[in-house]
Amino acid sequence: MSDQTYIPRVYGRRVDKPLRARQATLMETLLPRIAMPDPESYLQADREIDAIDPREIFPSAKEIWMEIGFGGGEHLAWQARQHPDYGIIGAEPFTNGVAKLLGQIEDHKLENIRVHFGDARPLIETLKPGLLDRIFVLHPDPWPKKRHHKRRMINPWFFDQAARLLRPGGILRVASDIPDYIRWTLMHAQGATQFEWTAERAEDWRRRPDDWPQTRYEAKALREGRTPAYLTFRRN
Ligand SMILES: C[S@@+](CC[C@H](N)C(=O)[O-])C[C@H]1O[C@@H](n2cnc3c(N)ncnc32)[C@H](O)[C@@H]1O
Repeated sequence: MSDQTYIPRVYGRRVDKPLRARQATLMETLLPRIAMPDPESYLQADREIDAIDPREIFPSAKEIWMEIGFGGGEHLAWQARQHPDYGIIGAEPFTNGVAKLLGQIEDHKLENIRVHFGDARPLIETLKPGLLDRIFVLHPDPWPKKRHHKRRMINPWFFDQAARLLRPGGILRVASDIPDYIRWTLMHAQGATQFEWTAERAEDWRRRPDDWPQTRYEAKALREGRTPAYLTFRRN
């Protein structure tokens, strides 16, 4: 895509503490087996889009979901356990997070997860359209300073891409515990005519739906007195 509206660079931590021996082994042995095709190799050719077909990756999945920035992978692994007949793609550039998810995949023998270890955005641009049933962006990095707002995952580019990837009726879930990011998301959602915010009453966005487990990040936000919003948008 020539008119990309993101800076092709990942901000934030890529790694913090050294991996445990088991995690390091899983990064070498399990990750290559469940890795998504590398979108950069498609994009570098001539910035080709629509190249990766998720149905080829999950040929018999009833639904295909994607989680962007899965952190420690608690939500992704939980959903994969609840829905063994769905395929779930996770994208995360943070090494320790990916290693944690791999541990859960091995512990629970999960067969229905594929991992993109890196920036989600090239992958988003490279997937074939209309094939995803759900997209999750849970507690994206808030980038509170105004001059960093362009680093935020949610923006007009993102809503356009989410609309391209989701089938009609598909669901986009976004959570944030930062009031400014909640406002920001709703403001951009208003400009995204392909989506409808499903909330009818305050409880619909104040209460986490039952099929949405808590992540460690969310638990920390609650402990620190921040109240998350759980936003659900439907693709028209
Ligand atoms: C605040 S954490 C939330 C993690 C997790 N979703 C949760 O709720 O526990 C934000 C996550 O987004 C990831 N992230 C940041 N930029 C990203 C990008 N360009 N593509 C994919 N993930 C990204 C970060 O590495 C981090 O793990």
